Amino acid sequence: MRMSVIGCGYLGAVHAAAMASLGHDVVGIDVDESRVASLAAGVAPFFEPGLADLLHDGLASGRLRFCSDMIEATGADVHFLAVGTPQSPEGPAADVSFVEAAIELLLPRLRPGDVVAGKSTVPVGTAARLGGRVTATGATLVWNPEFLREGWAVHDTLTPDRLVVGADATAAGERAVDVLRQVYRIAIDAGTPFLVTDLATAELVKGAANAFLATKISFINAIAEVAEAAGADVTLIAEALGHDTRIGRRYLGSGIGFGGGCLPKDIRAFAARAEELGRGDAVAFLHEVDAINLRRRDRAVRLVVDALDGLVFGRRIAVLGAAFKPFSDDVRDSPALEVAVRLRGLGADVVVTDPAAIENARAQHPQLGYAEARDEALRDADAVVVVTEWDEYRRHLTPQHAAGLVRGRIIVDGRNCLDAAAWRAAGWNYRGMGRR
Ligand code: UGA
Repeated sequence: MRMSVIGCGYLGAVHAAAMASLGHDVVGIDVDESRVASLAAGVAPFFEPGLADLLHDGLASGRLRFCSDMIEATGADVHFLAVGTPQSPEGPAADVSFVEAAIELLLPRLRPGDVVAGKSTVPVGTAARLGGRVTATGATLVWNPEFLREGWAVHDTLTPDRLVVGADATAAGERAVDVLRQVYRIAIDAGTPFLVTDLATAELVKGAANAFLATKISFINAIAEVAEAAGADVTLIAEALGHDTRIGRRYLGSGIGFGGGCLPKDIRAFAARAEELGRGDAVAFLHEVDAINLRRRDRAVRLVVDALDGLVFGRRIAVLGAAFKPFSDDVRDSPALEVAVRLRGLGADVVVTDPAAIENARAQHPQLGYAEARDEALRDADAVVVVTEWDEYRRHLTPQHAAGLVRGRIIVDGRNCLDAAAWRAAGWNYRGMGRR
């Protein structure tokens, strides 16, 4: 099928390349000319495992191209909207102006029978509000939320857990759903559940999914707070809970909490939209989920300060990690980077290292010290704090090796990802989050 993908960020670039790999004829469109140039040259503009190969193959096959002019969308059967919906600068709600602008530019390119498939995360009611203008051209708007995780985006796009398509219960809506069935035929034939809903339900599925994941993480972090006060170990609690198949172990990773370009802003937007709908009370707990999450950053800083007996000024602190999670170079609302910034604010001589995110971190926080190599960051450190659980820190850094580099054997494990006993046995003052 011929398709356009409008917006080539973390979501759109991967979607475009993945669709081409399934045999579709795809044009990716983005207003950012440097991003388009990079993608058109086969260079992934951000760290995403597997994307470079997909780009290379797609461009070589002639089925994938990138441009910055919406005119190139003309003639596509399906137009995916994959632009960002960041938090509004004025408050907690989502800023949907990029979605609106993309649709406005797309309208003159639409032909009767075309399908416009929204993938961006939007407040419930957005599709219904924008659908009329699309329908007036003879095209049909459906909502097809995306559930991919950064770092796993290629995998999640090609082999999703489920596909959800929201459409109006009209003949045109049914036809549009059939078009998406064809788009995703390979995944559907492989057994991926394909759920058809109305527009509002599809929008809410996405918001609810991220709200649930955020709640699960804050749940275990709330337990970590109690465990710390009681002298218990949250990692063992998570392990024991995880054996209950009704609960499951995933997203019970305790530590400095969630960040990134999705969960934090999505729970705020979800709560803001519920308030607009008069049901803010139903999701009031999301404010607590947010508050618990933000407290984790304070707690990590406090653990470092306490371990240094309150003497932080001028002390050298190695911060291992800057990305909001491993396998990503994304530092949007990164708890790791915020911990580094706060320690620096207390006068510490902070040296941040990360296998992928230094460039992005430096652009956001040029005041911090940076080291490309992990061992360079560790050298002469008075304390070490692990804030992103890259394998380089979690698996490949031994307490003995680190001890040969640092000045003081203090380690704060902001992701509860290290073997506490091994670090203590090697003479380190190890502090986890919610661990004895
Ligand atoms: C999240 C969702 O997982 C995706 O399903 C969704 O499609 C995406 O948002 C989106 O809306 O686009 P992502 O932001 O890539 O994906 O990140 P996650 O892997 O979910 O991690 C989010 C944050 O939670 C990270 O900071 C991570 O370190 C933290 N986390 C995750 C924990 O603190 N504990 C855990 O157990 C798991």
